[in-house]
Amino acid sequence: MKVEDIKQCFVEKFGGEGEICGYFAPGRVNMIGEHTDYNGGHVFPCALTIGTYMFARKREDRKLRFYSMNFEAVGVVESSLDELLPQSEDNWTAYPKGMVWTFNQKGHEIGQGFDLVLYGNIPNGSGLSSSASVEVVTGIMLRDLFGYDELSNTDLALYGQYSENQYNGVNCGIMDQFAIAMGKKDHAIFLDTSDLSYEYAPIKLEGARIVIACSNKKRGLGDSKYNERRSECETALAEIQKVKEVASLGALTIEEFEEVKDAIQDPVRQRRAKHAVYENQRTIQAVEALKNNEIQKFGQLMNESHISLRDDYEVTGIELDTLAKEAWKCEGVIGSRMTGAGFGGCTVSIVEDGAIEAFIATVGTAYQEKIGYAADFYVVDIGDGAGILS
Ligand code: GLA
Repeated sequence: MKVEDIKQCFVEKFGGEGEICGYFAPGRVNMIGEHTDYNGGHVFPCALTIGTYMFARKREDRKLRFYSMNFEAVGVVESSLDELLPQSEDNWTAYPKGMVWTFNQKGHEIGQGFDLVLYGNIPNGSGLSSSASVEVVTGIMLRDLFGYDELSNTDLALYGQYSENQYNGVNCGIMDQFAIAMGKKDHAIFLDTSDLSYEYAPIKLEGARIVIACSNKKRGLGDSKYNERRSECETALAEIQKVKEVASLGALTIEEFEEVKDAIQDPVRQRRAKHAVYENQRTIQAVEALKNNEIQKFGQLMNESHISLRDDYEVTGIELDTLAKEAWKCEGVIGSRMTGAGFGGCTVSIVEDGAIEAFIATVGTAYQEKIGYAADFYVVDIGDGAGILS
């Protein structure tokens, strides 16, 4: 799909008059630091070069018209600024509408309607944040069309998270929207979610690439155990706070956690908290390793992250475990782990250039045999964050 074709689609659906503006927001992949963002810990995601394209034009009335080239069968969805109601949609327009609702909630009034066409090349439900990408691209569009230049990209990321939490009912952290709004080509973002301070770290993989394996097990965060995990962590933190003053699980060192962990009454909940604490420390170590060019150590920490997500946090499942386990067996694989929320979605692996072909063939065959359907593989590049199309 070419960018001009998306604009052409807009013209066909909504006419060619007036100023039609184009925007892009990427998807993201998290290298390490999973389920730490709502626990005040660190994450290490990067923006991809695949993402969501949007063309939009302001209207004089209060009508909203949406069309997605990914959901042709749904056709043009019509709504109005007077019909925005949290958790009322059952299709993709929940994401752009949620952003309009959020702008209004935050006092950045959207007083005129618009027409919008969307095209995304992130596989839906893959765990590469197609929904956060739609939220952020809508934020970029609203800021531009309605002249809210005082809003930074970080503000738009926070609006995206607010929209996801309040309008769509998923209690996600800030990682996805932040990575998408703030990404930088060939860099990952080392983000401290306790205060949103961040640093860009170059990803120099000399002789290796990032390979994403999509399990094709469909899931939505709404129907997953995501909100349940989050509340398990909140309960565990409250139990720890009875014996120790601490702001979040991410604020604990491993030694501190080991000292107070028995304050957590339930053994399952204790394992959830353990993952949050250990994963945060692993992320800090992994970034340090990368800075020192210790790529093998980085890979080892990725593997340990998967094991912790499998055994202590229990968000992997047979599909992701198969992908990771088969990857670990392959020659030339530096590290491999599930990425994103889990419960389906993708793994991310670092694979030496010369081994990629064999990796895809071997892991692909083993997955098909065990799971009964195919996985998809993508060799990806790290791109820039969201913005206006030139
Ligand atoms: C989803 C959420 C993020 C984060 C990850 C797990 O992608 O949207 O906020 O919690 O899961 O690390």
